[in-house]
Amino acid sequence: MEGWHGWDDYAPFYDWENARTVGRRDIRFWQRLAEQCGGPVLELGCGTGRVAVPVARTVDRVVGIDRSDAMLRQAQRRLRRGGRGTLLRLVRGDVRSLPFRGASRFRLVMAPYGMLQSLLRDRDLRDTLRSVFGVLRRGGTFAMDLVPDLPRWSEYARRVSLRGRGRGGAVRISLIESVRQDWSRRLTIFDQEFVERRGHMRTAHRFSLVFRTLSVRQMRGRLRRAGFTIETVLGDYTGGEWHREAETWIVLARKG
Ligand SMILES: C[S@@+](CC[C@H](N)C(=O)[O-])C[C@H]1O[C@@H](n2cnc3c(N)ncnc32)[C@H](O)[C@@H]1O
Repeated sequence: MEGWHGWDDYAPFYDWENARTVGRRDIRFWQRLAEQCGGPVLELGCGTGRVAVPVARTVDRVVGIDRSDAMLRQAQRRLRRGGRGTLLRLVRGDVRSLPFRGASRFRLVMAPYGMLQSLLRDRDLRDTLRSVFGVLRRGGTFAMDLVPDLPRWSEYARRVSLRGRGRGGAVRISLIESVRQDWSRRLTIFDQEFVERRGHMRTAHRFSLVFRTLSVRQMRGRLRRAGFTIETVLGDYTGGEWHREAETWIVLARKG
């Protein structure tokens, strides 16, 4: 399985689920960082535009790249709905080989909400870091936000983890989730089943997502080896210091 698998199937449910989990908690953080760095800004794995669209409201020249067509279609929809006058360029591509000519042009490259955890092998991460280094300006910032400690999650099978209404209230949706761990490869596998009920009609959508979690220390090492300087490590979206139980792992690195 590849880290980019599953996202096309997840796309119709991504915003529904995340409105109930991370919500907009991280948005102001990314907007502020983008304002400080200035455009052009690149978001790796921009998905449904949850972060890219609000960031493009506050700075000029924002580009979002994602490998999933279905996620990018949701981002286009979000732009049409709420992004009046917002300029955001959406590109389909793989973060391991960024398709931007004219190297060194972004002032900020950001990887929110565990995007880099979709890179399942060391060589995937290495290729991505090299690619990011190539498109960043000298002095530019590479910022990532990692979902902490997925390998410490307990394994469970077929737990109903969310329930609610979707599609303007017309459909009842439940998420039945299983978690498996492959500790030797630091992989966490989520088997997802979204069940939609409209009257007597029941439709199930099944897919899996896989994430690889490195420790903060390991990630810092990989960044240094790729030529970055570590600026700071934060543990929340208001600038709090990182610690072992921190709600998120945010690493800010600089191309020296
Ligand atoms: C956790 S989502 C993050 C979406 C968005 N950044 C957010 O914060 O809501 C990860 C995204 O990365 C994309 N992705 C995974 N592997 C990728 C790859 N190798 N190249 C480009 N995009 C990838 C997925 O399609 C998905 O949209």
